[in-house]
Amino acid sequence: MKKVGNHTSFSRILFFCLALSLSFSLASFAQDAAPAADAGQEATASAGAGDPKKGKELFNSLCAACHKLDAKMTGPALRGVADKHDREWLYKWIHNSSELIKSGDATAVKLFAENNNQVMTPFPQLSTGDIDDILAYTSEPKIEVKGSNPGPVVAAQESGASNNLILGALVLVLLVLIVMLVLVNSTLRKVAAANGVDVSKKGNTISFWQAYARNQFLVLVTTILLLLSGAYFLYGYLMQIGVDQGYEPIQPIHFSHKIHAGENGIDCKYCHSSARVSKTSGIPSLNVCMNCHKNISEFTGSKDSTYVEYSKEFYTAEIQKLYDAVGWDKSAQQYTGKTKPVKWVRIHNLPDFVYFNHSQHVSVAGVECQTCHGPVETFEIMKQNAPLTMGWCINCHRETNVKVEGNDYYKKIHDELAKKYGVQKLTAANMGGTECGKCHY
Ligand code: HEC
Ligand code: HEC
Ligand code: HEC
Ligand code: HEC
Ligand code: HEC
Ligand code: HEC
Repeated sequence: MKKVGNHTSFSRILFFCLALSLSFSLASFAQDAAPAADAGQEATASAGAGDPKKGKELFNSLCAACHKLDAKMTGPALRGVADKHDREWLYKWIHNSSELIKSGDATAVKLFAENNNQVMTPFPQLSTGDIDDILAYTSEPKIEVKGSNPGPVVAAQESGASNNLILGALVLVLLVLIVMLVLVNSTLRKVAAANGVDVSKKGNTISFWQAYARNQFLVLVTTILLLLSGAYFLYGYLMQIGVDQGYEPIQPIHFSHKIHAGENGIDCKYCHSSARVSKTSGIPSLNVCMNCHKNISEFTGSKDSTYVEYSKEFYTAEIQKLYDAVGWDKSAQQYTGKTKPVKWVRIHNLPDFVYFNHSQHVSVAGVECQTCHGPVETFEIMKQNAPLTMGWCINCHRETNVKVEGNDYYKKIHDELAKKYGVQKLTAANMGGTECGKCHY
């Protein structure tokens, strides 16, 4: 009788736990589905008056020369301008602002005076529909992610949240399992007790450690193992002294190679121009930055791609740091004369007794920057990719063939050395790339 009773209570617990974990996982699914539904609603809502996506295109091609959304340029900032004037006025203004000013419209005259009597280009070719599109674009809230591209910033956070949810669910399921085991254990003990079975431990056992200490062979084997692994780790530790692979310091300006060299495809040598012709590669002066940043004063993510790492506000603030350093006043569009140097933290640094020459590798040997520096165009933050040890240099010299095509001087040496070594291809090592004096002063 008693057995049956216990059995049912046990299966009831099991059933309860199952139901609990099931309902929990359902709940987490429902939460995952929710943001998707939200996004759908948003898309239909913004399609109401004017298409902001088409508006953005028009804005960029016609208006961006003089206007920005959030900052004054030649013309005033345009975000929210649709709420500032009524529609009819805006149509007239954009179609031909000079006419409106001439007609004596008070708002127009005042606006014109406020902006130093600068004339805005007339756009008679724009239909009212086009203007609605542009105004829909300028009415978008600031932080909102644009158009049909939901933007990875949000996506990343969402998937982060759902990852947390899944983790939480797993932890809960595990907890439930533990509770179940404890319950099962105690139930079984009760059953055993009820049936008069003795489950307590047997006596006369010697402890594990005692047994271990008596077995000399085991002790010997463990000691050897411990010594070997100790030596291994000590060696590893000593070998990494002075090796800064992966060194990734925080720079005074957050400069992203991913955005510059990756998304915007700027050639490495545009900035590191001396790599081709000299020993060092150098860091570009701030004047080089200003070639572009006189005009790029805020971060818009214009390439519409994966800027997962930071927000637009963060990037724009970093560009402002550049302006503070060169003394550029972006609202007045002129230099103030107040400069302060940017102290970039040096990342790659060979010891003084080593001679390394960039032009030798980049121009003569034709080695890509990425071979040594890694996929720099994907680095949000610059880091040291290679170990820069002697072994690293020498290995590459042993493995890399010398580029002889189109180099008569090399052709001759190559033919002679190829005969001498009896090989088809010459490696840098064959050319003397492992001689101490080549790398050490
Ligand atoms: C050649 C430069 C230039 C271009 C191009 C230009 N604007 Fe303007 N815009 C101005 C200036 C300057 C003003 C300030 C008023 C003035 O001085 O005429 C202005 C003012 C405005 C205003 C009124 C802003 C306010 O704060 O009340 C609106 C709206 C406007 N522009 C819309 C547009 C649109 C839309 C386009 C593109 C289709 C455009 N502008 C293209 C120079 C320009
Ligand atoms: C728009 C200019 C620009 C472009 C383009 C650019 N860099 Fe840089 N690079 C910099 C600046 C500024 C720094 C210093 C700040 C830093 O370390 O992030 C730097 C730092 C580096 C460093 C580390 C220097 C050190 O201190 O040891 C390496 C290596 C490097 N760049 C390689 C590359 C490669 C390879 C490319 C092409 C894929 C490239 N850079 C493209 C501007 C640029
Ligand atoms: C060849 C043009 C060009 C040069 C040169 C250039 N930039 Fe940029 N920079 C850009 C573009 C394009 C963007 C992205 C703008 C956007 O997407 O809205 C950008 C974005 C930035 C940003 C924000 C994103 C980030 O990387 O943190 C900073 C800060 C910045 N640049 C600093 C610099 C500095 C410092 C230099 C000089 C070492 C420099 N830039 C040189 C074109 C350039
Ligand atoms: C054969 C490997 C190799 C190649 C290829 C290479 N570098 Fe380097 N780079 C190095 C080493 C090693 C250092 C450290 C030099 C030092 O500390 O004297 C370095 C340092 C740098 C620095 C720091 C400043 C300096 O000059 O010391 C920059 C920037 C840099 N490299 C950019 C580039 C760019 C851009 C390219 C491609 C045009 C490139 N490197 C190609 C190995 C390489
Ligand atoms: C990615 C492969 C690679 C790496 C890594 C590399 N080198 Fe080289 N290096 C070459 C090649 C290829 C040549 C042959 C260039 C030529 O055609 O003369 C060369 C040539 C040289 C030479 C001239 C040798 C001669 O015979 O005149 C020196 C010096 C040198 N490297 C130093 C270094 C140092 C120091 C390092 C490490 C910090 C290093 N290299 C890392 C590929 C590499
Ligand atoms: C291809 C270039 C290259 C050649 C050839 C080369 N070395 Fe080096 N050597 C290096 C570099 C790079 C370092 C710095 C390693 C570091 O900082 O971890 C170095 C470091 C050393 C050190 C210091 C070790 C340490 O950990 O600080 C000694 C000693 C040394 N080399 C001796 C030699 C001798 C002897 C030869 C000739 C048999 C030789 N090197 C050939 C590139 C080279």
